[in-house]
Amino acid sequence: MAENLKNFNWPGWPLKNNPYGEDFDLEARKRMVTGSKMLLSFINKYKGNLGSVILEVGPFFNPLITPRNFPKAKIFYWENDYYVIKYLKKLYSKKEIYPIFSDLNKIEGNSFLKLKLETQKNFKTKKISFDSVIISHVFNYIDYKLFLMTLKEFIKKDGLIFINNVADYGLPTFFSERRPKSIQETIKILKETGYTIIEKKVFESQNKKHQKNQRLIIVAKSN
Ligand SMILES: C[S@@+](CC[C@H](N)C(=O)[O-])C[C@H]1O[C@@H](n2cnc3c(N)ncnc32)[C@H](O)[C@@H]1O
Repeated sequence: MAENLKNFNWPGWPLKNNPYGEDFDLEARKRMVTGSKMLLSFINKYKGNLGSVILEVGPFFNPLITPRNFPKAKIFYWENDYYVIKYLKKLYSKKEIYPIFSDLNKIEGNSFLKLKLETQKNFKTKKISFDSVIISHVFNYIDYKLFLMTLKEFIKKDGLIFINNVADYGLPTFFSERRPKSIQETIKILKETGYTIIEKKVFESQNKKHQKNQRLIIVAKSN
């Protein structure tokens, strides 16, 4: 199970000769997974409202939504790391789990069309409609405003969206110029793009050396 992947020596991201140094050494990986799991208590709190079709964006090797905690759900993963896709496909080959390659920095043209087709073919109807969406530690790598606007097409009205983010935290090599610059900005953009905040929590950093900013966790619904 993904949850049991203990050694943090992930395919394609070896610990030995890790090119990102302190930004992605063993301790950094542990911090990432621990921080990611802070969203779980929020997911569990609203468990009954997540619905039966759930999208998790950028799950990496430790998805928060799994067939173990959501046995009846159809789970989609949108992810741009081929190693993760391969890993999750193998892990969940016999389940209603759909890891789909998607570069969320290319949500236009042919690559977006491909993502839509790959996703849609697993729906009984023509329309892609997620009941809820989970996005943990991904906003720093994408144009998050554009993503939130685009997501409106795929998330049902009143569908829940769970966000976990720390501004300027992660692997700077991959940061998007259009990442969130602050908690205030993230909240403003979320409202502007058509979501209503249900719950918002800000956590102080447990490790200011590596993570200087506060953590923002939001549960919102699509208007
Ligand atoms: C820092 S990891 C977060 C992993 C996990 N969700 C967590 O909370 O720790 C960022 C994730 O987003 C994915 N990702 C980064 N850029 C992306 C992009 N442009 N399109 C899709 N996924 C992306 C990465 O491959 C990875 O799975």
